[in-house]
Amino acid sequence: MLILGLETSCDETGVAVYDSERGLLAHRLYSQIAVHAEYGGVVPELASRDHVRKTLPLVNEAMAAAGHTLQELDGVAYTQGPGLVGALLVGASLGRSLAWGLGIPAVGVHHMEGHLLAPMLEEESPDFPFVALLVSGGHTQLVHVAGIGEYTLLGESLDDAAGEAFDKAAKMMGLPYPGGPELSKLADSGDDKRFSFPRPMTSRPGLDFSFSGLKTAVRTTILEQAVEGVLDEHTKADISACFQAAVVDTLAIKCKRALKQTGLKNLIIAGGVGANKLLRQQLMEMTKKLGGQVFYPRAEFCTDNGAMIAYAGCQRLLAGEQADLSLSVVPRWPMTELNSIVSASTASQGKP
Ligand code: KG4
Ligand code: ZN
Repeated sequence: MLILGLETSCDETGVAVYDSERGLLAHRLYSQIAVHAEYGGVVPELASRDHVRKTLPLVNEAMAAAGHTLQELDGVAYTQGPGLVGALLVGASLGRSLAWGLGIPAVGVHHMEGHLLAPMLEEESPDFPFVALLVSGGHTQLVHVAGIGEYTLLGESLDDAAGEAFDKAAKMMGLPYPGGPELSKLADSGDDKRFSFPRPMTSRPGLDFSFSGLKTAVRTTILEQAVEGVLDEHTKADISACFQAAVVDTLAIKCKRALKQTGLKNLIIAGGVGANKLLRQQLMEMTKKLGGQVFYPRAEFCTDNGAMIAYAGCQRLLAGEQADLSLSVVPRWPMTELNSIVSASTASQGKP
Protein backbone atom coordinates (compact mmCIF):
# COMPACT_ATOMS: atom_id res chain seq x y z
CA MET A 1 0.00 0.00 0.00
CA LEU A 2 1.53 3.29 -1.16
CA ILE A 3 0.68 6.20 1.16
CA LEU A 4 1.31 9.93 1.05
CA GLY A 5 1.66 11.52 4.51
CA LEU A 6 1.14 15.21 5.26
CA GLU A 7 2.10 16.95 8.51
CA THR A 8 1.05 20.60 8.98
CA SER A 9 0.03 20.84 12.64
CA CYS A 10 2.46 23.56 13.72
CA ASP A 11 5.55 25.18 12.22
CA GLU A 12 6.92 22.39 10.05
CA THR A 13 5.61 21.22 6.69
CA GLY A 14 6.38 17.50 6.41
CA VAL A 15 5.60 15.26 3.46
CA ALA A 16 6.50 11.60 3.01
CA VAL A 17 5.80 8.63 0.78
CA TYR A 18 5.60 5.30 2.63
CA ASP A 19 5.06 1.83 1.22
CA SER A 20 3.76 -0.92 3.50
CA GLU A 21 6.07 -3.45 1.79
CA ARG A 22 9.17 -1.38 1.02
CA GLY A 23 9.13 1.10 3.92
CA LEU A 24 9.86 4.81 3.68
CA LEU A 25 10.54 5.83 0.07
CA ALA A 26 11.02 9.59 0.36
CA HIS A 27 10.40 12.46 2.72
CA ARG A 28 10.68 16.22 2.62
CA LEU A 29 10.64 18.75 5.45
CA TYR A 30 10.40 22.49 5.42
CA SER A 31 10.88 24.32 8.70
CA GLN A 32 9.26 27.71 9.28
CA ILE A 33 11.83 28.75 11.89
CA ALA A 34 12.92 31.81 9.86
CA VAL A 35 9.28 32.96 9.51
CA HIS A 36 8.63 32.93 13.28
CA ALA A 37 12.10 33.74 14.66
CA GLU A 38 11.60 37.50 14.83
CA TYR A 39 8.43 37.00 16.95
CA GLY A 40 10.11 34.59 19.38
CA GLY A 41 7.42 31.93 18.88
CA VAL A 42 4.96 30.48 16.38
CA VAL A 43 2.48 32.99 14.88
CA PRO A 44 -0.49 30.78 13.91
CA GLU A 45 -1.71 32.83 10.93
CA LEU A 46 1.77 33.01 9.42
CA ALA A 47 2.15 29.27 9.96
CA SER A 48 -1.08 28.54 8.03
CA ARG A 49 -0.09 30.81 5.14
CA ASP A 50 3.34 29.22 4.87
CA HIS A 51 1.85 25.70 4.84
CA VAL A 52 -0.38 26.85 1.94
CA ARG A 53 2.71 27.95 0.02
CA LYS A 54 4.89 24.94 0.76
CA THR A 55 2.80 21.76 1.04
CA LEU A 56 1.97 21.13 -2.62
CA PRO A 57 5.51 21.80 -3.95
CA LEU A 58 6.84 19.41 -1.28
CA VAL A 59 4.28 16.76 -2.31
CA ASN A 60 5.54 17.00 -5.91
CA GLU A 61 9.17 16.79 -4.75
CA ALA A 62 8.56 13.80 -2.48
CA MET A 63 6.56 11.91 -5.13
CA ALA A 64 9.34 12.48 -7.69
CA ALA A 65 12.00 11.38 -5.19
CA ALA A 66 9.98 8.23 -4.43
CA GLY A 67 9.77 7.49 -8.17
CA HIS A 68 5.97 7.38 -8.20
CA THR A 69 3.12 9.44 -9.63
CA LEU A 70 0.13 10.61 -7.59
CA GLN A 71 -2.03 8.18 -9.58
CA GLU A 72 -0.11 5.26 -8.08
CA LEU A 73 -1.04 6.20 -4.49
CA ASP A 74 -3.37 3.94 -2.51
CA GLY A 75 -4.19 6.43 0.23
CA VAL A 76 -3.47 9.80 1.81
CA ALA A 77 -2.82 10.41 5.52
CA TYR A 78 -2.86 13.86 7.07
CA THR A 79 -2.51 15.19 10.62
CA GLN A 80 -6.04 15.77 11.91
CA GLY A 81 -4.99 17.06 15.34
CA PRO A 82 -3.98 18.14 17.88
CA GLY A 83 -2.36 21.38 16.72
CA LEU A 84 -3.08 24.87 15.40
CA VAL A 85 -6.49 24.83 13.74
CA GLY A 86 -5.55 26.90 10.66
CA ALA A 87 -2.35 24.95 10.09
CA LEU A 88 -4.18 21.62 10.47
CA LEU A 89 -6.83 22.73 7.99
CA VAL A 90 -4.22 23.24 5.27
CA GLY A 91 -3.00 19.63 5.40
CA ALA A 92 -6.50 18.25 5.94
CA SER A 93 -8.01 20.14 2.95
CA LEU A 94 -5.14 19.23 0.68
CA GLY A 95 -5.08 15.59 1.82
CA ARG A 96 -8.84 15.19 1.54
CA SER A 97 -9.01 16.90 -1.89
CA LEU A 98 -6.12 14.90 -3.32
CA ALA A 99 -7.71 11.65 -2.13
CA TRP A 100 -11.12 12.62 -3.52
CA GLY A 101 -9.62 13.64 -6.85
CA LEU A 102 -7.64 10.40 -7.07
CA GLY A 103 -10.54 8.24 -5.88
CA ILE A 104 -8.58 6.77 -2.96
CA PRO A 105 -9.19 6.74 0.82
CA ALA A 106 -7.86 9.41 3.18
CA VAL A 107 -7.30 9.09 6.89
CA GLY A 108 -6.81 11.72 9.60
CA VAL A 109 -3.93 10.88 11.93
CA HIS A 110 -3.42 11.87 15.58
CA HIS A 111 -0.17 13.84 15.68
CA MET A 112 0.99 12.23 18.96
CA GLU A 113 0.21 8.74 17.66
CA GLY A 114 2.46 9.67 14.75
CA HIS A 115 5.25 10.57 17.19
CA LEU A 116 4.61 7.45 19.23
CA LEU A 117 4.91 5.15 16.22
CA ALA A 118 7.92 6.96 14.70
CA PRO A 119 10.40 4.45 16.24
CA MET A 120 8.71 1.80 14.05
CA LEU A 121 10.33 3.44 11.02
CA GLU A 122 13.74 2.30 12.26
CA GLU A 123 15.37 -1.04 11.58
CA GLU A 124 15.48 -1.86 15.27
CA SER A 125 11.96 -1.28 16.54
CA PRO A 126 10.19 -2.49 19.69
CA ASP A 127 7.50 -5.14 19.99
CA PHE A 128 4.30 -4.33 21.86
CA PRO A 129 3.73 -3.78 24.75
CA PHE A 130 6.04 -0.97 25.83
CA VAL A 131 6.07 2.29 27.76
CA ALA A 132 6.27 5.48 25.70
CA LEU A 133 7.63 8.80 26.88
CA LEU A 134 6.10 11.47 24.65
CA VAL A 135 7.97 14.72 25.07
CA SER A 136 7.18 17.55 22.68
CA GLY A 137 6.46 21.27 22.76
CA GLY A 138 2.85 20.65 23.75
CA HIS A 139 2.88 17.27 25.54
CA THR A 140 4.74 15.41 28.26
CA GLN A 141 3.11 12.04 28.76
CA LEU A 142 3.94 8.52 29.88
CA VAL A 143 1.77 6.03 28.03
CA HIS A 144 1.32 2.27 28.30
CA VAL A 145 1.16 1.04 24.70
CA ALA A 146 -0.41 -2.40 24.28
CA GLY A 147 -0.84 -2.06 20.51
CA ILE A 148 -1.72 0.55 17.90
CA GLY A 149 -4.55 2.61 19.37
CA GLU A 150 -4.34 0.79 22.72
CA TYR A 151 -3.05 3.60 24.85
CA THR A 152 -3.37 4.03 28.61
CA LEU A 153 -2.19 7.31 30.06
CA LEU A 154 0.10 6.64 33.03
CA GLY A 155 1.05 10.23 33.80
CA GLU A 156 1.36 13.68 32.24
CA SER A 157 2.49 17.20 32.92
CA LEU A 158 0.14 19.17 35.11
CA ASP A 159 1.44 22.45 33.67
CA ASP A 160 4.12 23.13 31.04
CA ALA A 161 5.29 20.44 28.64
CA ALA A 162 9.01 19.58 28.82
CA GLY A 163 9.68 21.18 25.40
CA GLU A 164 7.75 24.27 26.43
CA ALA A 165 9.88 24.51 29.61
CA PHE A 166 13.05 24.25 27.47
CA ASP A 167 11.73 26.97 25.14
CA LYS A 168 10.71 29.30 27.99
CA ALA A 169 13.98 28.87 29.91
CA ALA A 170 15.88 29.60 26.69
CA LYS A 171 13.78 32.69 26.02
CA MET A 172 14.46 33.99 29.55
CA MET A 173 18.18 33.84 28.75
CA GLY A 174 17.67 35.62 25.43
CA LEU A 175 18.48 32.56 23.29
CA PRO A 176 17.02 32.52 19.77
CA TYR A 177 13.83 30.61 18.89
CA PRO A 178 13.40 27.64 18.93
CA GLY A 179 14.98 27.55 22.36
CA GLY A 180 15.17 23.82 23.17
CA PRO A 181 17.96 22.83 20.77
CA GLU A 182 19.82 26.12 21.40
CA LEU A 183 19.74 25.65 25.19
CA SER A 184 20.85 22.06 24.81
CA LYS A 185 23.81 23.11 22.61
CA LEU A 186 24.87 25.72 25.17
CA ALA A 187 24.53 23.17 27.99
CA ASP A 188 27.38 21.14 26.44
CA SER A 189 29.90 23.74 27.60
CA GLY A 190 28.25 24.44 30.99
CA ASP A 191 28.83 23.16 34.52
CA ASP A 192 25.78 21.12 35.52
CA LYS A 193 26.67 21.31 39.22
CA ARG A 194 26.89 25.10 39.66
CA PHE A 195 23.22 25.71 40.51
CA SER A 196 20.92 23.32 42.27
CA PHE A 197 17.57 23.12 40.48
CA PRO A 198 14.65 20.98 41.71
CA ARG A 199 13.60 17.62 40.25
CA PRO A 200 9.86 18.41 40.55
CA MET A 201 7.40 15.81 41.87
CA THR A 202 10.02 13.07 42.11
CA SER A 203 9.95 12.76 45.91
CA ARG A 204 6.28 11.75 45.98
CA PRO A 205 4.66 8.75 44.32
CA GLY A 206 2.95 8.99 40.94
CA LEU A 207 3.85 9.50 37.32
CA ASP A 208 2.71 13.08 36.73
CA PHE A 209 5.12 15.90 35.95
CA SER A 210 5.30 19.60 36.70
CA PHE A 211 7.84 21.94 35.17
CA SER A 212 6.60 25.37 36.26
CA GLY A 213 8.62 25.36 39.53
CA LEU A 214 11.77 24.60 37.59
CA LYS A 215 11.01 27.54 35.31
CA THR A 216 10.70 29.77 38.38
CA ALA A 217 14.05 28.47 39.69
CA VAL A 218 15.65 29.47 36.38
CA ARG A 219 14.05 32.92 36.52
CA THR A 220 15.26 33.48 40.11
CA THR A 221 18.79 32.36 39.22
CA ILE A 222 18.86 34.71 36.22
CA LEU A 223 17.78 37.64 38.42
CA GLU A 224 20.46 36.77 41.02
CA GLN A 225 23.26 36.30 38.50
CA ALA A 226 22.58 39.10 36.02
CA VAL A 227 24.79 42.16 36.29
CA GLU A 228 22.84 45.26 35.22
CA GLY A 229 20.31 42.93 33.60
CA VAL A 230 22.91 41.04 31.57
CA LEU A 231 24.06 37.43 32.02
CA ASP A 232 27.60 36.54 30.99
CA GLU A 233 27.95 33.69 28.46
CA HIS A 234 29.61 31.41 31.01
CA THR A 235 26.66 31.71 33.41
CA LYS A 236 24.16 31.16 30.57
CA ALA A 237 25.91 27.90 29.73
CA ASP A 238 25.93 26.83 33.41
CA ILE A 239 22.22 27.61 33.85
CA SER A 240 21.49 25.69 30.63
CA ALA A 241 23.47 22.65 31.83
CA CYS A 242 21.79 22.66 35.27
CA PHE A 243 18.33 23.14 33.76
CA GLN A 244 18.83 20.37 31.19
CA ALA A 245 20.15 18.00 33.89
CA ALA A 246 17.10 18.72 36.08
CA VAL A 247 14.60 18.06 33.25
CA VAL A 248 16.42 14.91 32.09
CA ASP A 249 16.78 13.53 35.65
CA THR A 250 13.09 14.16 36.29
CA LEU A 251 12.03 12.42 33.07
CA ALA A 252 14.40 9.49 33.73
CA ILE A 253 13.14 8.99 37.31
CA LYS A 254 9.53 8.89 36.11
CA CYS A 255 10.33 6.55 33.19
CA LYS A 256 12.04 4.13 35.58
CA ARG A 257 9.04 4.28 37.88
CA ALA A 258 6.67 3.64 34.93
CA LEU A 259 8.66 0.58 33.81
CA LYS A 260 8.67 -0.81 37.35
CA GLN A 261 4.96 -0.12 37.82
CA THR A 262 3.96 -1.81 34.54
CA GLY A 263 6.53 -4.60 34.77
CA LEU A 264 7.62 -3.78 31.20
CA LYS A 265 11.24 -3.68 30.01
CA ASN A 266 11.08 -1.59 26.87
CA LEU A 267 10.73 2.15 26.56
CA ILE A 268 10.36 4.38 23.55
CA ILE A 269 11.05 8.12 23.48
CA ALA A 270 9.27 10.25 20.93
CA GLY A 271 8.58 13.93 20.25
CA GLY A 272 10.92 16.88 19.79
CA VAL A 273 12.66 16.66 23.19
CA GLY A 274 13.52 13.07 22.26
CA ALA A 275 16.25 14.60 20.09
CA ASN A 276 18.04 15.66 23.29
CA LYS A 277 21.31 13.74 23.53
CA LEU A 278 21.55 13.73 27.34
CA LEU A 279 18.00 12.38 27.63
CA ARG A 280 18.76 9.56 25.18
CA GLN A 281 21.97 8.67 26.96
CA GLN A 282 20.45 8.68 30.45
CA LEU A 283 17.44 6.62 29.40
CA MET A 284 19.70 4.15 27.63
CA GLU A 285 21.73 3.62 30.81
CA MET A 286 18.61 3.37 32.98
CA THR A 287 16.81 0.79 30.80
CA LYS A 288 20.00 -1.25 30.42
CA LYS A 289 20.30 -1.50 34.21
CA LEU A 290 16.72 -2.79 34.32
CA GLY A 291 17.53 -5.40 31.66
CA GLY A 292 15.50 -3.61 29.00
CA GLN A 293 16.08 -1.37 26.03
CA VAL A 294 15.21 2.10 24.85
CA PHE A 295 14.08 2.79 21.28
CA TYR A 296 13.84 6.12 19.56
CA PRO A 297 13.46 7.48 16.06
CA ARG A 298 16.45 9.00 14.26
CA ALA A 299 16.84 12.65 15.38
CA GLU A 300 15.08 14.13 12.32
CA PHE A 301 11.98 12.00 13.04
CA CYS A 302 11.85 13.07 16.71
CA THR A 303 10.63 16.51 15.71
CA ASP A 304 7.60 16.96 13.46
CA ASN A 305 7.78 15.18 10.12
CA GLY A 306 5.63 13.61 7.41
CA ALA A 307 7.11 10.11 7.70
CA MET A 308 5.49 9.41 11.07
CA ILE A 309 2.09 10.52 9.70
CA ALA A 310 2.47 8.37 6.58
CA TYR A 311 3.42 5.35 8.74
CA ALA A 312 0.60 5.77 11.30
CA GLY A 313 -1.93 6.53 8.52
CA CYS A 314 -0.84 3.44 6.61
CA GLN A 315 -1.48 1.21 9.64
CA ARG A 316 -4.96 2.67 10.07
CA LEU A 317 -5.81 2.45 6.37
CA LEU A 318 -4.62 -1.17 6.32
CA ALA A 319 -7.01 -1.81 9.23
CA GLY A 320 -9.88 -0.43 7.17
CA GLU A 321 -10.24 3.02 8.67
CA GLN A 322 -10.94 5.99 6.46
CA ALA A 323 -12.25 9.51 6.84
CA ASP A 324 -15.65 10.41 5.47
CA LEU A 325 -16.00 13.30 3.03
CA SER A 326 -16.56 15.94 5.72
CA LEU A 327 -13.51 17.95 6.65
CA SER A 328 -12.79 18.08 10.35
CA VAL A 329 -9.69 18.86 12.35
CA VAL A 330 -9.35 18.44 16.12
CA PRO A 331 -7.09 21.04 17.79
CA ARG A 332 -7.45 19.33 21.21
CA TRP A 333 -7.68 15.59 21.07
CA PRO A 334 -6.75 13.15 23.89
CA MET A 335 -4.87 10.21 22.42
CA THR A 336 -6.74 7.78 24.66
CA GLU A 337 -9.87 8.45 22.55
CA LEU A 338 -8.34 6.67 19.56
CA ASN A 339 -9.71 3.34 18.40
CA SER A 340 -7.59 0.27 18.81
CA ILE A 341 -6.55 -0.93 15.39
CA VAL A 342 -7.79 -4.44 16.17
CA SER A 343 -11.31 -3.12 16.50
CA ALA A 344 -10.82 -0.42 13.85
CA SER A 345 -12.47 -2.39 11.07
CA THR A 346 -15.60 -2.85 13.12
CA ALA A 347 -15.63 0.69 14.54
CA SER A 348 -17.24 3.43 12.47
CA GLN A 349 -14.68 6.09 11.60
CA GLY A 350 -12.13 6.06 14.38
CA LYS A 351 -12.36 9.75 15.08
CA PRO A 352 -14.26 12.02 17.42
O1 KG4 B 1 7.52 17.35 18.48
P1 KG4 B 1 7.94 18.74 18.16
O2 KG4 B 1 8.77 18.97 16.92
O3 KG4 B 1 6.70 19.67 18.01
C1 KG4 B 1 5.56 19.54 18.80
O4 KG4 B 1 4.71 18.70 18.45
O5 KG4 B 1 5.53 20.24 19.84
O6 KG4 B 1 8.70 19.28 19.46
C2 KG4 B 1 9.21 20.57 19.51
C3 KG4 B 1 9.80 20.78 20.90
C4 KG4 B 1 10.22 22.23 21.13
O7 KG4 B 1 9.75 22.62 22.40
C5 KG4 B 1 11.74 22.16 21.06
O8 KG4 B 1 12.36 23.17 21.82
C6 KG4 B 1 12.01 20.78 21.62
O9 KG4 B 1 11.00 19.98 21.06
N1 KG4 B 1 13.35 20.27 21.24
C7 KG4 B 1 14.34 20.03 22.12
C8 KG4 B 1 15.45 19.58 21.36
N2 KG4 B 1 15.08 19.55 20.04
C9 KG4 B 1 13.80 19.99 19.99
N3 KG4 B 1 14.39 20.15 23.46
C10 KG4 B 1 15.54 19.81 24.07
N4 KG4 B 1 16.65 19.38 23.43
C11 KG4 B 1 16.66 19.24 22.08
N5 KG4 B 1 17.75 18.80 21.45
ZN1 ZN C 1 5.09 17.13 17.36
